[in-house]
Amino acid sequence: MSAHDHVASAHGVVRAPDAIHFGRGARASLAAAVAELGGRALVVVDPFLATTDSFAESLAALEGAGVTVRVHADVVPELPVDDVVAAAEAARGWRPDVVVAYGGGSALDLGKLVALLLSQPGPLSDYYGENRVRGPVLPIVAVPTTAGTGSEATPVAVVSDPERELKVGVSDAALVPRVAIVDPDLTTGVPARVTAYSGIDAIVHCAESFTAVRREPVWAERLPIFVGRNRMSALFALDGLWAMGGALPRAVADGADREAREQMAWGSLLGGLAFGSGGTHLSHALQYPIGAMTHTPHGLGTGLMLPYVLQACRAETSPQLAEMAVALDVASGSEADDAQAAIDRLAEICHAIGLPASLADLGVTRAQLPRIAQLAAGVTRLAALASREATPDLLERILDAAYDGDRSRLV
Ligand SMILES: NC(=O)c1ccc[n+]([C@@H]2O[C@H](COP(=O)([O-])OP(=O)(O)OC[C@H]3O[C@@H](n4cnc5c(N)ncnc54)[C@H](O)[C@@H]3O)[C@@H](O)[C@H]2O)c1
Ligand SMILES: [Fe+2]
Repeated sequence: MSAHDHVASAHGVVRAPDAIHFGRGARASLAAAVAELGGRALVVVDPFLATTDSFAESLAALEGAGVTVRVHADVVPELPVDDVVAAAEAARGWRPDVVVAYGGGSALDLGKLVALLLSQPGPLSDYYGENRVRGPVLPIVAVPTTAGTGSEATPVAVVSDPERELKVGVSDAALVPRVAIVDPDLTTGVPARVTAYSGIDAIVHCAESFTAVRREPVWAERLPIFVGRNRMSALFALDGLWAMGGALPRAVADGADREAREQMAWGSLLGGLAFGSGGTHLSHALQYPIGAMTHTPHGLGTGLMLPYVLQACRAETSPQLAEMAVALDVASGSEADDAQAAIDRLAEICHAIGLPASLADLGVTRAQLPRIAQLAAGVTRLAALASREATPDLLERILDAAYDGDRSRLV
């Protein structure tokens, strides 16, 4: 395998919005984009953003463009499923033509799932998993205000269902927003902690889609949502790592650093495009039970796990890790040295942005590790994308190392 194996005659799959508007000030394009899709817009907005001048300006512009607007500003982070159902029921009689989702990943995912429930019969649990939606959903215009999830470009929405031991996702091409409007200036007020957790998740999206296993697609069949590493996802992932590797510590240290904010918004969009076809793997599979057990933010769990997961997969993904070292600006030697340098650099970034070094700090107990491993191994659509077989035993070894904050055990 060459260091550029993703370039040589590999397949490529991309899932993306019809239009992506990226750049400072891009929020000014919202009204025209929405008006093209319909005259009645349900605007699902993060409660913090709902109080800002920029949101008030967007509402005024929508009304100026002849769009009748109804605002839903009740968004709870990590998205409890009952809130999704309640939001859809409240909007059903109003019959919107289009859903505008404006906020962090939780608001974007709420908007996406409300669009689903207003278009298809429920219950929502019918759609948990992959490729379960039959037919289109209301058009979605997504405006992210954190740099992290990439949800503005992905076929995914994630909810917390108290009836499950895991966070659950709906993954379907129907959930890709029609238009993504990514304005880095909307992220300047994000507190340092949210900048860190959401930003590291975007880095995990790039790193995991790039180290996911590569599989030949069966073109005559309906493709899985996550097809594994491919030529398109690789492009996005490497450029995303390049943008974010230096920018994330700067954005956390100084939220007013507009250049760092811009690089993060760009990188997280690319992360979404990368994993929207390539998928993610073990850091995400492990975060699903960890997040459900500890009620800690998604990116805190995926970011904390990433160096351990990559260390465990190093032998199988050495060429990819070496390419990541170039994107992270730490390549200097042989493939083996560079592969390790990439993992070490990612661990350094996690440390620099204040992530805890050990799983114990998230409130997990050692006695819970076997159950977490078992549940994560059961998230087969992600676990199967790892470059080595994700047995409960392997996952437990990864968790054990993360619990003690000792990556050397996995070398
Ligand atoms: N759909 C996807 O593809 C995808 C991918 C990864 C994660 N997720 C999901 O996204 C959610 C996490 O999203 P997130 O990390 O963006 O956090 P979030 O949306 O939960 O927001 C976190 C906090 O930041 C605040 N906030 C948001 N924007 C702000 C701004 N501009 N200024 C100040 N405060 C702001 C919110 O009010 C909230 O209190 C989780 O539910 C996760 O599972 C979805
Ligand atoms: Fe994620």
